Amino acid sequence: MKKFSLTLITIYLFFAITLVSIPSILAQCIDQPFPTQPNKNLAVKCLTVKQPIKKLKSQVSNNTDMLEIRFDCAINDETICAKVKSTFEEAGRIITSALTLYTQIIVNVTFREMMSPAILGSARPFRSMPLKDDDGIERLYPQSLVKQLQLTSHPEFAPVDIVADFNSLVALWFEGDPPITSKQVGFLELILHELMHGLGFVSAWGDYFPKAATPEVNDFIESENSNSKAMTVFGGFQEKAFDKYLVIFPDNVTTSSYIKELNKFADGSAFKNFDDFYVKFIASPQYLVAKEIYNHFVTPKSLVFKPSVSDKEEDWTYLETTLNPFERGSSVSHVDNMMYTNTSDFLMTYRQELGRTLNDNIGIGGNYAGGAISYKLRLILESLGYTVNYPSPFPSNETDPVTENSIPTSLSTRNFAYQSSIAYIVGIVMIINALL
Ligand SMILES: *[C@@H]1O[C@H](CO)[C@@H](O)[C@H](O)[C@H]1NC(C)=O
Ligand SMILES: *[C@@H]1O[C@H](CO)[C@@H](O)[C@H](O)[C@H]1NC(C)=O
Ligand SMILES: *[C@@H]1O[C@H](CO)[C@@H](O)[C@H](O)[C@H]1NC(C)=O
Ligand SMILES: *[C@@H]1O[C@H](CO)[C@@H](O)[C@H](O)[C@H]1NC(C)=O
Ligand SMILES: *[C@@H]1O[C@H](CO)[C@@H](O)[C@H](O)[C@H]1NC(C)=O
Ligand SMILES: [Zn+2]
Repeated sequence: MKKFSLTLITIYLFFAITLVSIPSILAQCIDQPFPTQPNKNLAVKCLTVKQPIKKLKSQVSNNTDMLEIRFDCAINDETICAKVKSTFEEAGRIITSALTLYTQIIVNVTFREMMSPAILGSARPFRSMPLKDDDGIERLYPQSLVKQLQLTSHPEFAPVDIVADFNSLVALWFEGDPPITSKQVGFLELILHELMHGLGFVSAWGDYFPKAATPEVNDFIESENSNSKAMTVFGGFQEKAFDKYLVIFPDNVTTSSYIKELNKFADGSAFKNFDDFYVKFIASPQYLVAKEIYNHFVTPKSLVFKPSVSDKEEDWTYLETTLNPFERGSSVSHVDNMMYTNTSDFLMTYRQELGRTLNDNIGIGGNYAGGAISYKLRLILESLGYTVNYPSPFPSNETDPVTENSIPTSLSTRNFAYQSSIAYIVGIVMIINALL
């Protein structure tokens, strides 16, 4: 199978939507209706919707759960269905207390028997929409975030913000169950992790060409004028909101700075088909640029998320670049597993330890204020554009981060059924290790 996915679109238009709300006619939205099939993107034309600016304050409600869960439980076990639903509601409360949400976020949840117990499930933004950033670059923003920005006009919203799809065949542990066993997955942690992806903790960068990194090619657009059914126009590589803050270290170059160079490849030109595009890209000088970026993405500590709201080096988050070869779904769209497992920043590592509950991990991470949504994760969410509540005191003013050598003694005596060498890969599509 081809290692990259391209999406057909019927019309080619430029968008003029900006964060300061210059209206446009049509925008190229990307829908991902199938969270466990991240390559199945649908390009949809989004009309611009004008919306009066609402007073932010009047929007803030008392609601303790700003996530509206639309739950389809497709199994015949009411007890499990109720536990799944209440776990989503608990995740909703955790997210609601970490963020100031002005508009409800609608999550379409399906819980069903999948093909095999090797698939955990996933959550994704249902619709992503292009917005022109203050740096002049257009990026894809998840709908749940665009809703919070209260723009005077925006591409039209889909009926749901996040789609989540989880597998009933997996050995899940729910809050309140008897002690977790070494083979069980803490469901609340899994849901929170996935909802973070749904809120926009996800990069467009991937290995869509051999040993080379580019943003996903979403806007491979069918030419409007072309009467041949085969001609397609490439509209350019496009990052996601998350990618604005990615900096290659120690060169201190943003990944965004490569986009201009990459887009010298045939921006706006027509190709016979995807294969034609693929072959021509690999033969282009831009392929060498993509290979150079790839090399950073497979070198440990080479990629940081520099939050917009802080210049301090200790506030950077190192992203997952220890996997070589690159693993699409695990690399870059997560934090460095080696560095952050067993710390307060554990939530967005690509592996989830079996036999540990969310509370176990919060304890191992040092019981910082803020719990599962760590200080650095909050900085990332704030950079994306969410209004974030910071717990007090700031973790950065407490003790040094806990390392594997300094797990609090009160915890080391607890009887965890660790099987630390076995973990689920919590990727965008999560596949359980062959070990299980
Ligand atoms: C918010 O909570 C306060 C006190 O808890 C209550 O008086 C008020 O009516 C609530 N407002 C809404 C919109 O629910
Ligand atoms: C949401 O889930 C329902 C089933 O509960 C489904 O019929 C509907 O198509 C889903 N909507 C989206 C946008 O995925
Ligand atoms: C990149 O930034 C770091 C920290 O600000 C600095 O120590 C380093 O010298 C910089 N590297 C280059 C190549 O400018
Ligand atoms: C995390 O802690 C567990 C249990 O102490 C240990 O087995 C594992 O090696 C640690 N992982 C890392 C990456 O430090
Ligand atoms: C951390 O503590 C120092 C000294 O106590 C204080 O000056 C600083 O403002 C604090 N920083 C944060 C982020 O709370
Ligand atoms: Zn993940």
